[in-house]
Amino acid sequence: MSPLILSFFLLFLPPLSLSTPFNISYHIDCGGSTTFTDHFKTTWLSDRYFTGGATSVVSEPLQFSLQQEKTLRFFPPTTTGPKNCYILPTAVHGGRYLFRTFTTYDNYDGKKHTPSFEVSVEGTVVFSYHSPWTESVSSSDGFYSDLIAFVSDGEADVCFYSIATDPPIIGTLEVIEIDPASYDASNLGNDTVLVNYGRLSCGHHKWGPGISNDNDIMWRLWQSDVEFRSKNTTGVKVISTTRAVGGTNQKPNYFPMKLYQTAVTVVGNGVLEYELNVDAKVDYLLWFHFAEISSTVTKGGQRVFDVLVNGVSVNRIDVFKAVGGFKAYNWHYVAKNLSSTSLNLKLVPVVGEPILSGLETYAIVPNDLATVPDQVVAMRALKDSLQIPGRMGWNGDPCAPTTWDAWEGVICRTNKDGSALVISQIDLGSQGLKGFISDRISLLTNLAILNLSSNSLTGSLPEGLGQQSLVKLDLSNNELTGAIPDSLASLRNLRLVLLNDNKLEGRVPEQIYSVGVHGGAIDLSANKGLCGTPSLPDCPLFWSNGRLSRGGKIAIGLSCMVIVMLLLLVTYICIRRKRNDYDFGLPHELISMAAKRNRYHRQKSLMVLEMESQHAKGLIPIMKPQ
Ligand SMILES: *[C@@H]1O[C@H](CO)[C@@H](O)[C@H](O)[C@H]1NC(C)=O
Ligand SMILES: *[C@@H]1O[C@H](CO)[C@@H](O)[C@H](O)[C@H]1NC(C)=O
Ligand SMILES: *[C@@H]1O[C@H](CO)[C@@H](O)[C@H](O)[C@H]1NC(C)=O
Ligand SMILES: *[C@@H]1O[C@H](CO)[C@@H](O)[C@H](O)[C@H]1NC(C)=O
Ligand SMILES: *[C@@H]1O[C@H](CO)[C@@H](O)[C@H](O)[C@H]1NC(C)=O
Repeated sequence: MSPLILSFFLLFLPPLSLSTPFNISYHIDCGGSTTFTDHFKTTWLSDRYFTGGATSVVSEPLQFSLQQEKTLRFFPPTTTGPKNCYILPTAVHGGRYLFRTFTTYDNYDGKKHTPSFEVSVEGTVVFSYHSPWTESVSSSDGFYSDLIAFVSDGEADVCFYSIATDPPIIGTLEVIEIDPASYDASNLGNDTVLVNYGRLSCGHHKWGPGISNDNDIMWRLWQSDVEFRSKNTTGVKVISTTRAVGGTNQKPNYFPMKLYQTAVTVVGNGVLEYELNVDAKVDYLLWFHFAEISSTVTKGGQRVFDVLVNGVSVNRIDVFKAVGGFKAYNWHYVAKNLSSTSLNLKLVPVVGEPILSGLETYAIVPNDLATVPDQVVAMRALKDSLQIPGRMGWNGDPCAPTTWDAWEGVICRTNKDGSALVISQIDLGSQGLKGFISDRISLLTNLAILNLSSNSLTGSLPEGLGQQSLVKLDLSNNELTGAIPDSLASLRNLRLVLLNDNKLEGRVPEQIYSVGVHGGAIDLSANKGLCGTPSLPDCPLFWSNGRLSRGGKIAIGLSCMVIVMLLLLVTYICIRRKRNDYDFGLPHELISMAAKRNRYHRQKSLMVLEMESQHAKGLIPIMKPQ
């Protein structure tokens, strides 16, 4: 049966209803305004989970048969910043996902200029688009790209980076949970991304969920192998069957039966040869799909061939011997140390003709470093609390990918063992910021320089401000209120403290002056009511750090106790007196005893207090009799 007739029949098959064993799947119609279900029964979500950008429609919508391909989202860097993302909630425990994008330009902006931009997934750059795009992808066709990645933090980040102020574009975004063990994850590990460089279904046209009435639990799109065959390959014959092929749709890869029901062979002792464009920098995972679907092969040894990768024989295949007839058989291989940008694959006959059902090629891209999770939390909290404007593009991971700048105004470095990225500097002086400083800033344990000067920040300095790493702190020229936290006083590396021109008040922690002593600089001038250190006024009684000091509280507490006891005594004496009206003589003894006791108590109170005040610095003078 020819492929044409086959696809004719397939059109009349009802959609297969294989349900996925995993629960998370998103099909986002980027730029789309309504959620709808297409005629393949896929529900497309109207655009959501994005961090910025604007929507548009392709210039020739009639050229696109699928509704979701007609709309797009673009990210003009001048208004939404250089980095924008889709951030989708995923399973909190981590998992493996297939990410699929559809991209088209189709002169949506009337500028006849295809944009240059990069796309990262989970902080690792996976796609680079460079202007000009080839005609076939820039025009009405558009193109699908996909990859497989681990998501460990409960949210999937897909970020877009503008190159040369071009606005990145996206037509659809799909994120589908797949089996964590798929594609040899146990050997490849969780710290790589598999970027699809070609997923060929031999002898077929393009097919797969979302674009045809075919199912694939893992939502893979399969393309024709024709254009990847080397010119040296002649005499190709397509064979296909309607018989069921066993061993398909099985955990963990769920390869669809359709893939194995069609195959190509080469007549006349020829070689089946493919040329794939690759990037020589990384290793490639090659996944070969075979099935013996010819009834002329009835036992092992009748069809045997060698697999050559870049001219090196890597395996000998006898499908029938391995699994028998009408059974799926797949085998994978990692091609390493590629020296050119072309990957050559040959199936060379040993006995009979070689046969191939499908071939997948994935670049094994090592995960880029990511920011320490706690510091991501801190930076997101600061983004909210400081009310960072959208144009600064504070989206996705603050530091990753390393090939791009960190968030605007942020400088990162690798941590000690080189396993992750940390924030070392925040420079947001004169940015018109109006918010406050989130206390999550205490999570930035590697922050050396914090400059938020000349903004309109309000609120107080968080208690956790200032990790041991802090060297320079410039918060001058804001509207910060409250006291200077004690935590700042204990920082050994601090060399510069500029808190001038704010509304701070209260006692300045004494040790903060060691900054000046150690050759650093400190400026606390032009505040509302800072006190207690040489250049500042004396602090009022009981006043420390903008509130009643501990010593002050104790003093007041003790004084209250004394007063209460005095009152009790007086009351007691009065009662006794009343009773003693009938008694003989006045209770002088009693009075003097009471007076003595009272004096004793007072003295004890003073003693306790003075002991306390050794610790609560600067309190002693307060209780000294004036
Ligand atoms: C999917 O959801 C069902 C019911 O909510 C649950 O029983 C099942 O474990 C989930 N599957 C996965 C892979 O999380
Ligand atoms: C990958 O991550 C999954 C889910 O978090 C985990 O079950 C699995 O053990 C990890 N595999 C490796 C090789 O680290
Ligand atoms: C085709 O075959 C010839 C001779 O075997 C060889 O020299 C040439 O490199 C091959 N071309 C390709 C594209 O593989
Ligand atoms: C690839 O190169 C590395 C170092 O350059 C070498 O150690 C390794 O053996 C090579 N692997 C193969 C398969 O040639
Ligand atoms: C903080 O940033 C401002 C510019 O916004 C700059 O003038 C100032 O010198 C910086 N402070 C420090 C300590 O570098």
